[in-house]
Amino acid sequence: MKVRNVCEQDLMRKSGVIAAKALKRATEAIKVGVTELEVDKIVTQEIYKQGGDLSYKSVPGYKYATCITVNEQVVHGIPTDRKFESGDVVSVDLAVVYKGWHTDCAWSVLVSGQGTGDSGQLEKTKFLKAGEEALWDGVAQAIDGNRVGDISSAIQERIEKNGYSVVRSLVGHGVGRSLHEDPEIPGFGEAGKGPVLKSGMSLAIEVIYTSGLPDVVLEKDGWTFSSADKSLGGLFEMTVIVGKKEPKVLTHW
Ligand code: MF3
Ligand code: CO
Repeated sequence: MKVRNVCEQDLMRKSGVIAAKALKRATEAIKVGVTELEVDKIVTQEIYKQGGDLSYKSVPGYKYATCITVNEQVVHGIPTDRKFESGDVVSVDLAVVYKGWHTDCAWSVLVSGQGTGDSGQLEKTKFLKAGEEALWDGVAQAIDGNRVGDISSAIQERIEKNGYSVVRSLVGHGVGRSLHEDPEIPGFGEAGKGPVLKSGMSLAIEVIYTSGLPDVVLEKDGWTFSSADKSLGGLFEMTVIVGKKEPKVLTHW
């Protein structure tokens, strides 16, 4: 729960610019016929080109730039040679380290192709819109004097109002000198509860949700979490710095 000084914030901001560019490239690259590994490669090249390094290398046993999840998969998917298909809901999660400072972000998109626009696709668009709105609702609470629970409850309210569920077993987190720091930032909880936020704290706010029930199961690969009921998984994450009047979002393009 550290407050970052101006110098440190500047380095985190630079780390965030790299992450944002890489995430933008990734979402643009997700098209019918493209593989997860191809997207991971694009992200890797973009991060290196910008002078950053892969934060996920700091996770023991993990060697990719990204986690990529499709449809009922929710988080921590290892990139494979699976090809995206029209109508897939795809999430990309990535983190950058720049001069020792980590930033973490994720986004979800719908793969469009022939035959899009049917009712199933409209449902998926609505699902993704709710996740993005929940993210911005949560981010807006990252203000000096607020509490972690204010972020959590804002996210939960938006997700549940739309008829979806926040996953309970996976949470957002502090970020900075390492990828995962204190405090935990759940996407569910009560306003006014939890640790007090101070200007200069750096947080990875995450909306991890499903279109059905909140339960997730670990797949056989030992990494990927999928929804237990096979409903859609969505993931939106931004690294922010808590501000006096408004937060600074570091990883948005
Ligand atoms: N990005 C994930 C998070 O938001 C962490 C992924 S760790 C990995 O906390 F090893 F699975 F890549
Ligand atoms: Co994270």
